[in-house]
Amino acid sequence: MDKYSSAPCPRHGMPAGPRLEATYEAPPNIALVKYWGLRDRERGLPYNSSLSVTLDRLRSRTTVRFDPDLRDDRVELNGAAASGGPRDGVVRFLDRVRRLAGVPHAAEVRSANNFPTASGMASSASGFAALAGAATAALGLSLSDRRLSQLARLGSGSASRSIFGGFVEWRAGARPDGEDCYARPLYGPDHWPALLDLVVIVKGAPTKQVRSEDAMQTSVATSPVYRRRQAELPARIRKIRSAIGARDARRLFPLIMEECDSFREVCETTRPSLDYLTTTSRALLGEVRSMNREEGRPVAAYTHDAGAHMHVFTLARDAPRVRRRLSSLPGVERTQLLRPGPGARRVR
Ligand code: PMV
Repeated sequence: MDKYSSAPCPRHGMPAGPRLEATYEAPPNIALVKYWGLRDRERGLPYNSSLSVTLDRLRSRTTVRFDPDLRDDRVELNGAAASGGPRDGVVRFLDRVRRLAGVPHAAEVRSANNFPTASGMASSASGFAALAGAATAALGLSLSDRRLSQLARLGSGSASRSIFGGFVEWRAGARPDGEDCYARPLYGPDHWPALLDLVVIVKGAPTKQVRSEDAMQTSVATSPVYRRRQAELPARIRKIRSAIGARDARRLFPLIMEECDSFREVCETTRPSLDYLTTTSRALLGEVRSMNREEGRPVAAYTHDAGAHMHVFTLARDAPRVRRRLSSLPGVERTQLLRPGPGARRVR
């Protein structure tokens, strides 16, 4: 029997168990300051720091079992055998974990989301955060959350932030080796109980043609406003952090929209142009702006990722009104109210 099938875990002196198996759950997150562009693709090092809110209730649940008798990795996503790009991404990630642990075994991965893929929530962040946790735990590697965030970002950049709950910053760092590039929690999930994310699902959202990781590199190479955005970001991040710290929606909401508009400008000026929105998404942007104008204060703030669905931040007291108004727009399929939630955790 080889040392990885039933030997004690070298770090804990506990039996690693004969099955080399672990299960993790991890949530998605929505970026208030977007990550868009890698300065080092191999190490997953971004040009700029980003900031997000981890979302409650939605989860990827991933079980990884390494097995010396398996010939190839088996990957099941939402109940079906994965193939092509999605499978390759998981296998490449497992290869990194195998190298880290010095273990050759193939693995069986089963991952499922408790939210539909068409829910407007990118599942790559929650999926790779859960995979990072489960794969390392299955091999008895006990990584700190910071290390886990550094590993998770190699699957998908935004996954680094899903390790933590609440309000999270992914620091870009400056070192070529990436040691100072990691995610860290800024404020816990209970920091601002009144702040809600109204997710607005639009009908007919197109599926992504180009993977984000490829699309963002095209933006770096071709968007004439990319550099200007980079220069603006440090000050914007400072202001957003401060507004969150003070639970100040009047300051925060305009900043969230300014950042989203800046991200969208980069996408639209990329060649070929990246247009993630539908007519309904654009109508939602307009409706939030009108509402804020009419009320004479920012009652809501829109943001979106590389997709057509909207995340509209609002306060609990305004949420019913904002929800009624946005739900009534033609092309809106449904809405869901979410709170900031906890980060990734081992469940088995
Ligand atoms: O983590 P990826 O490779 O799916 O890229 C995420 C990019 C955005 O969602 C648009 C921004 C972000 O910071 O989450």
